[in-house]
Amino acid sequence: MNEKTYTLITGASMGIGRAFALECASRDMNLILVALPDQVLEQVKNEILSENSVDVWIFGVDLTKEGGVFSLFNFCSEKAFRINMLINNAGMGAGGKFENLPLDKYLNIIDLNNKVLVQMTHYFLPVIKREKKGFILNMSSMEATLPLPYKAVYTASKSFVYAFSLAIREELASEGKVEVSVVCPGPVVTNPEALKRMKAHGARGKMVAQMPEQVAAMAIRNLLKGKRVTIPGKLNWALVKVGKMLPTNLKMNLLERLFRVYRDH
Ligand SMILES: NC(=O)c1ccc[n+]([C@@H]2O[C@H](COP(=O)([O-])OP(=O)(O)OC[C@H]3O[C@@H](n4cnc5c(N)ncnc54)[C@H](OP(=O)(O)O)[C@@H]3O)[C@@H](O)[C@H]2O)c1
Repeated sequence: MNEKTYTLITGASMGIGRAFALECASRDMNLILVALPDQVLEQVKNEILSENSVDVWIFGVDLTKEGGVFSLFNFCSEKAFRINMLINNAGMGAGGKFENLPLDKYLNIIDLNNKVLVQMTHYFLPVIKREKKGFILNMSSMEATLPLPYKAVYTASKSFVYAFSLAIREELASEGKVEVSVVCPGPVVTNPEALKRMKAHGARGKMVAQMPEQVAAMAIRNLLKGKRVTIPGKLNWALVKVGKMLPTNLKMNLLERLFRVYRDH
């Protein structure tokens, strides 16, 4: 039996997932990093090992493929990894008028953002529960409570993550062993697509945008403190609060106008 405990991170090869990996390594956490099979995970591993004395394992898999999550679970079981933290970060999105994108694209988003997240939690929760204290961090979005026209499926998938996280957190609360926290970032500058989306909003986009490192640091800090929801950035936090107070009609009308820039993407 391995004496060390590990943090398991999905989507760890780039963007916010990579930032989670670097943040956790800087906190001396041993890591199991997961992403699609390619060379990038190896580069992230080497980057971490060059600056930290932690144990890092990588596992390349398409989590949406039949048996994908199970193969990861098997790998971890065979290695007898003790896992005390799971970060369900992998996710994808798409913008545009709902009817203009192929159905397969939407089903793939639901598979990765929701089905895989539920599978991961179901497989690994019993493993985490073997530890004295465990943590699960789920990646939602600010859009979870602000349903965005022209990102209908993505925004709905993040509402699912939000509701799921709050619900299982309460289920587990009385046992006092596993903290569940959900992080709801606004736009984060992670990849060329995210940069394009931010630029489409001009100065407004820049005001709410954050860097992956900021999001990761705040989310991990709050997870360890046992905080239920993290909305990184004061302005984003305020926007979510205002959004909850506005009448739905007015809110949705405003959101449609603001996000019309995505319509023809
Ligand atoms: N960026 C934003 O503005 C923003 C805002 C709010 C919430 N979020 C959420 O934050 C999370 C990370 O976003 P990001 O922008 O950092 O993403 P990203 O840069 O596109 O990175 C996505 C990660 O997920 C992995 N991945 C994608 N499909 C996979 C699959 N089928 N199986 C296994 N791994 C897969 C990718 O692996 P490869 O590198 O191998 O492709 C990569 O490591 C997502 O859940 C996203 O919805 C993002």
